[in-house]
Amino acid sequence: MAELVKRNHWIVRLTHWVNVIAIVVMAGSGMRIFNAHPSFARPGEHFALNPWEGHAIPAWLTFGSWLGGARHWHFAMMWILVANGVLYIGFLWLHGEWRDIVPRRGDAHSALEMIKFYLFVRRDHPIGGKHNALQKSAYFAMPILGVIIVLSGLAIWKPVTLGFITVLFVNYKWARFAHFAAMAVLLLLALVHVFMVFAVDPYSLRSMITGWYNRARSPEARNARPFYHLLAPGVESADAEAPRP
Ligand code: HEM
Ligand code: HEM
Repeated sequence: MAELVKRNHWIVRLTHWVNVIAIVVMAGSGMRIFNAHPSFARPGEHFALNPWEGHAIPAWLTFGSWLGGARHWHFAMMWILVANGVLYIGFLWLHGEWRDIVPRRGDAHSALEMIKFYLFVRRDHPIGGKHNALQKSAYFAMPILGVIIVLSGLAIWKPVTLGFITVLFVNYKWARFAHFAAMAVLLLLALVHVFMVFAVDPYSLRSMITGWYNRARSPEARNARPFYHLLAPGVESADAEAPRP
């Protein structure tokens, strides 16, 4: 039996997809800017934290055709990214939905239980809220990384006018590195996130497009691990019999 519930407000859906486009354009154009001087050290200096100093990022991962073009894209898209981020966080704040992504006491234990479940140490899917404890930690980290990226971006955009932001990152060189490193962590989290959406809960895609979610197909109901029980026996036929909403 389909158990349809409204899961994502249109503001969450809109800001999610605008965010995906903005981050892809920002990361692609940022990496093209990086390739113009693919090293954090200045000539004659050494920078130990980047084992690939001097090595450019493969061109197919970058975006913006040339350095000037990439900078145009970067600085145009940043306004959309920031406005969109403010709308998303403002909505979560005003609607109390921040509770779905901010970790609380007991979440470390729940995250451990999720890992045990994925490793077949535990048989049944832990029961959580809208998102499980692992999702929550990833979704919570994403806006924090976003703030670090925006602040470090402002620090290297206007290092004189906004020098008070630059000193938060020590100096220009470290602000540049923080900007890059935070981007790399955000992209990694986003890749794992997309993998898990398709491998564990592809049915949640509908909830990020139309807002509606079929609880009968939730990972808890299907006892779903990555690529296991993508379709629980009986769910399909039960759906077919259910009256259309
Ligand atoms: C308000 C938001 C942002 C601002 C103000 C900003 C600003 C900047 C500036 C000024 C540069 C150096 C440009 C130059 O030297 O010509 C830069 C580089 C870069 N940005 Fe951003 N950025 C922002 C958001 C982002 C986002 C969201 C990402 C990716 C997720 C990103 C990734 C990069 C990368 C990879 C570089 C190259 C790093 C380097 O070589 O120093 N930026 N950004
Ligand atoms: C830059 C890339 C991305 C970021 C930063 C990101 C971030 C997020 C965040 C923070 C949420 C939680 C929203 C909330 O509950 O308030 C979410 C949910 C979701 N995302 Fe993404 N996302 C990204 C890319 C994608 C892509 C490419 C897809 C699919 C192709 C996707 C599919 C989904 C789905 C289906 C959900 C809902 C999960 C659920 O309700 O359990 N995301 N995403």
